[in-house]
Amino acid sequence: MKKAAILGVTGYTGEELVRLLSRHPEVELITATSENESGKKLGDLYPPFPRFRDLILCTAEQALQQPVDLVFLCLPAIESSRWGKLFLDRGSRVIDLGADFRFSTASAYKTWYGTSHPFPELLEQAVYGLAEWRRQEIRGARLIGNPGCYPTAALLALLPFVQAGWVAEEPVLIDAKSGVSGAGKTPTKTTHYVEANENVGAYKPGRSHRHVGEIDQELNSHSQTPMRVIFTPHLVPQTRGLYASVYFKLRSAHSHAELNDLLRHQYEAEPFIRIVDPQLPATRMALHSNFCFLAAAAVKDTSYAAVFSAIDNLGKGAAGQAVQNMNLMFGFLETMGLC
Ligand SMILES: NC(=O)c1ccc[n+]([C@@H]2O[C@H](COP(=O)([O-])OP(=O)(O)OC[C@H]3O[C@@H](n4cnc5c(N)ncnc54)[C@H](OP(=O)(O)O)[C@@H]3O)[C@@H](O)[C@H]2O)c1
Repeated sequence: MKKAAILGVTGYTGEELVRLLSRHPEVELITATSENESGKKLGDLYPPFPRFRDLILCTAEQALQQPVDLVFLCLPAIESSRWGKLFLDRGSRVIDLGADFRFSTASAYKTWYGTSHPFPELLEQAVYGLAEWRRQEIRGARLIGNPGCYPTAALLALLPFVQAGWVAEEPVLIDAKSGVSGAGKTPTKTTHYVEANENVGAYKPGRSHRHVGEIDQELNSHSQTPMRVIFTPHLVPQTRGLYASVYFKLRSAHSHAELNDLLRHQYEAEPFIRIVDPQLPATRMALHSNFCFLAAAAVKDTSYAAVFSAIDNLGKGAAGQAVQNMNLMFGFLETMGLC
């Protein structure tokens, strides 16, 4: 049995990890942290998950005293680097659900997060944890940068076409929507109930959202030609679920069937990808799961293709994907605890 810790267990991704680990047969959660709720029992916080109910929450500093095989970091940017470094030095493996280890260079991190990376040397060993595209690297990794929720949905839709050379030119257009849990548990002016309920709006349009850097990086690592995206996220009035509609110009004409066949061929052995054509994906399909649902369409009277992608932002977009990565790192069945 492997021993795991969750740093930031009171947040939304931390809660989802508790839910997933509570039914994982090979992992025991022995440490869970909160700076504000330390001393409480996990069972008081999360009554539906009785397996770890007697676990007493501690601070991140106290957690360092408890040796674990793996730490999940569910923390704000920079806090992840700090605690990730300390746990790596103690011999633990680390999966960061935040962005601190998603970039391959410190300069890209500074560009998109506006601050210098405190441990740039760690970026060399960090693996971008999109299992469908980096499975072998994840198996040998000690440090994973778990992909962002929007990048997960967009990259799973786009990468087959980028790799096949079917994308004629940049920029690729991504229109995406997220449920409000994507913004974390602390309400803000735009995410509290009265603002978010029965309301839809774009935010950080074009190339201003931080996830643009991550999407660009991963597209370029699988592309023969330079790639950039125009990406506009929207907040939608639902608790969880994330949807990406992606549009790109085709290098040569392909039918609706050919577009979907490429997706089917690419993902035929993937346990968590479903091509739902002739239906279109919807967030409800993915709710509380680690699945990504995809379908493609040729856009009539144009040379464009459209690809639609639905995930649960807390599932495949965060905690589910983190457990999938953990399974690969420890050599467990990839689907263990997730199906
Ligand atoms: N929400 C999503 O859908 C989603 C998807 C993909 C990735 N992510 C990323 O995953 C990470 C966690 O997201 P979340 O939505 O779970 O956030 P959240 O709901 O805001 O929770 C944040 C957690 O971090 C802890 N924390 C805050 N400041 C801290 C500090 N200085 N030191 C130690 N702990 C601290 C909080 O603990 P206390 O307040 O109890 O002390 C809380 O448990 C973020 O980096 C986020 O970008 C989120």
